[in-house]
Amino acid sequence: MAGNWNPFDPAVLADPAVGHRELLDRCPVHRFERFDPPFFTLSKHADVEAALRDVATFSSDQGQGPRFTPPIGMLADPPQHTYFRDLLQRAFTPRLIEQLRPRVIALADQLITAVETTARFDLHDDFALPIPVVVIAELLGVPAADMARFKRWSDVQVAAMGAQDPRIYAKETAEFAAYMLDHIRARQALAANGQPMPEDLIARIVADDADNPWRGEDHLLSVVNQLLVGGNETTTSLITNVVWRLLQRRSLWDRVAADPNLVEAAIEESLRFDPPVLGLYRSTTRDVLLHGTTIPAGSKVYLNYAAANRDPDVFERPDDFSLDRPRKRHLAFGLGVHFCLGAPLARLEATIALDALVRRLPQLRLEGDGERIAPFFLWGRRRLPVAC
Ligand code: HEM
Repeated sequence: MAGNWNPFDPAVLADPAVGHRELLDRCPVHRFERFDPPFFTLSKHADVEAALRDVATFSSDQGQGPRFTPPIGMLADPPQHTYFRDLLQRAFTPRLIEQLRPRVIALADQLITAVETTARFDLHDDFALPIPVVVIAELLGVPAADMARFKRWSDVQVAAMGAQDPRIYAKETAEFAAYMLDHIRARQALAANGQPMPEDLIARIVADDADNPWRGEDHLLSVVNQLLVGGNETTTSLITNVVWRLLQRRSLWDRVAADPNLVEAAIEESLRFDPPVLGLYRSTTRDVLLHGTTIPAGSKVYLNYAAANRDPDVFERPDDFSLDRPRKRHLAFGLGVHFCLGAPLARLEATIALDALVRRLPQLRLEGDGERIAPFFLWGRRRLPVAC
């Protein structure tokens, strides 16, 4: 399949690992023609890592998606990226994230209490979705009661990013913008009147805006959007993916249930084996010669994190899901200046979620494989029926 690899092929959509070995062994620089614009794919761990570190050559100024988009908010190269990253980084230190632990434990417990007496429930809808959505809504300072709307809007943002023609999502994108702008403008009004600001992320972004060389509502919206979208669907996918794999291989689930100290290892192996973000794009600023192929300047390049995570040069028996794997650097959260800002939060939420499930519902079992989420570059289950 190597030269014919097609990320939109139904077999690849059903199991993104299909074709990875061929890409790694025979086609480390792949060109895909059947998308407008055509794009290159890098799959080897060393190549993806080198590209992520070389921001001058592999630029984010034209977006992380397959189409060319203008630089906005954090979706940009330094110094614009550095400005917004620094602004938010202070709210995402491991120490501050650790303070959320009691809230996340309470939330996971409350959700399990609501389902434990039912015979069947949907692990996505009833458990994996609400945890990150409620947490990020509370951090941003928007009502968690609007969860259903956030879910729809973040689905739309992601679908638009991967779509050939994002204009079909214009109505929902405008609704989302109007909703968030209301919240942004409410904080701006408080700041303008010298009134106390709430201690939330939107207030933080707005308060610093006076000194911002990249001012304007488009940038603010993009940053808020990246937190809402980055903060929920990916973490939901991590929770569904790890539960799905462990229950598929019952002995692994039973091992974790017998020894919850293995929860962390299970989460890290899930991130390696089933990364919720399969890959993201960069754009080349110059010609790049790699493995005998020239990637011309101005090309879109898909950095295939999922294939890099199965590279046998780095991971022994890469296609085995193992709880005993020595910790090595998987690329599920990217690397370099754009390394996932929310990684400590995602790890906290997923660890607490799996820990609560194995302790309180050790008898959990799958009722089928559910359904994959739609965008080709993301990987998670949008339905995962389970029985107690
Ligand atoms: C399992 C869950 C998650 C996964 C797999 C994930 C994955 C990623 C990846 C691969 C990147 C790198 C993007 C790039 O290289 O262009 C990234 C960046 C980012 N993530 Fe996450 N993410 C997760 C959870 C979160 C959470 C919970 C938040 C926020 C609450 C978040 C916020 C962000 C932001 C703001 C960036 C942009 C960072 C930058 O450009 O400097 N993510 N994420």
